[in-house]
Amino acid sequence: LYIGIDLGTSAVKLLLMDATGDIKKIVSKEYPIFFPQTGWSEQNPEDWYNATIAGLKELTAECDTTLINGLSFSGQMHGLVILDKDDQVIRPAILWNDGRTQKECDYLNNEIGREKLSQFTANIALTGFTAPKLLWVKNNEPENFERIQKIMLPKDYLAYRLTGNHCTDVSDASGMLLLDVKNKCWSKDMITILGLTENQLAEIHESSDVIGTVKEAVATELNFPSTVKVIIGGGDQAVAAVGTGTVGDGMCNISLGTSGVVFIASKNFAVDDNNALHSFAHADRKYHLMGVTLSAAASNKWWMDEIIGTKDYATEQKEINKLGENNVFFLPYLMGERTPHNNPDARGTFIGMTMNTTRADMTQAVLEGVAYSLRDCLEIARSLGVTIERTRINGGGAKSPLWKKIIANVMNVTVDTINSEEGPAFGAAILACVGCKEYATVEEATSALIQVVDSVEPDSELISAYDQQYKKFTMLYPALKDVFN
Ligand code: XUL
Repeated sequence: LYIGIDLGTSAVKLLLMDATGDIKKIVSKEYPIFFPQTGWSEQNPEDWYNATIAGLKELTAECDTTLINGLSFSGQMHGLVILDKDDQVIRPAILWNDGRTQKECDYLNNEIGREKLSQFTANIALTGFTAPKLLWVKNNEPENFERIQKIMLPKDYLAYRLTGNHCTDVSDASGMLLLDVKNKCWSKDMITILGLTENQLAEIHESSDVIGTVKEAVATELNFPSTVKVIIGGGDQAVAAVGTGTVGDGMCNISLGTSGVVFIASKNFAVDDNNALHSFAHADRKYHLMGVTLSAAASNKWWMDEIIGTKDYATEQKEINKLGENNVFFLPYLMGERTPHNNPDARGTFIGMTMNTTRADMTQAVLEGVAYSLRDCLEIARSLGVTIERTRINGGGAKSPLWKKIIANVMNVTVDTINSEEGPAFGAAILACVGCKEYATVEEATSALIQVVDSVEPDSELISAYDQQYKKFTMLYPALKDVFN
């Protein structure tokens, strides 16, 4: 048996399956998130650990635990966990969606320079990334910075608590702005810029590598054999891509979760000229490009729950019957935007309403705005010569057939839904299978375990209607930029 642990932002989700991909049980345990100041976002690593242990006990309560071979992780990326000389957590973890580091990013991007950062790490500084958070601690909490013995990412902290080993993997480490992504080693230049030493960083592994077995005390508490292997796993986007079988060269996955992600797997390392896409290592020992729109399903949730006041999204979407002809546009920048604008001050906007505008038009505009924003990501990849004709899709938003149809036509791609909805937790369990040699490679595992069960084809008339609409959408941010800043 294999366990996938998806350490998310609101909850940890645990999945138990066998090597044939047959899912036996899924358990989810929530924990709090704290917003101590506007734009700040923190969690207690101890809450992650307690929820994970409680979740593991519940997950395996009815199974023969002697059959458990391995477990692995998918982790919320970029978060900063710092440990002192006794491996105690120094301060609450600063999360991926925390925006306090604008000053540090300006320093890195402008004083050190984007070109150099790109040369050292293949990426530029974004407020969510880990290195700017470290600089923030250095500038604002020097006494905490002095005490740092180890720098960990969220799922790596869990792996440490289970094994006693300080390890990370290439896909998650790519989001730190400390990894030389191309060569998959720590960047000596970045270490110097941040005033660190290499031994403060974790040991780097590929995502399907075994980093140890569960510690005796943990094995006893969980009633696990002490032979259970811990496979390091990866960042949530790379592992979700594994969970949808997005591992071959040129394969694409769209994640319609809180944030929206266009993820393109590639056997070769690549960077776009403006660093508008993230260039990261993949969990399949290769690379990927990734564009992120920060509020995807979150935009729809905000519009439905907060503004319209309904939980019945499907009924609201039934009223929508004017695809490709909407006069209302929505910019989904409710939490600022990453790709392509990299502007935490960008804001959500409706534009184009008249006295005839209906609630359905506005709901449609929200779904379309997210699709246009995902197309922004895809267009950058296309400008690099990547051909994308189909994509897989996962995340809560992928439950809406209408949203999938809008995405297929806005992006001019076939949208494939696969046999499992479990994305990251399933991907983590697959990595555990590969680490325990049930399959020789991640690609071999995903081709055996994942099938496409539904495809939405784009329609030529809608493609051209949406092309015209998308052109208008791309004119809105430049026109409004000065209003936001
Ligand atoms: C990826 C990203 C999110 C977080 C939280 O760059 O910021 O996917 O990992 O889910």
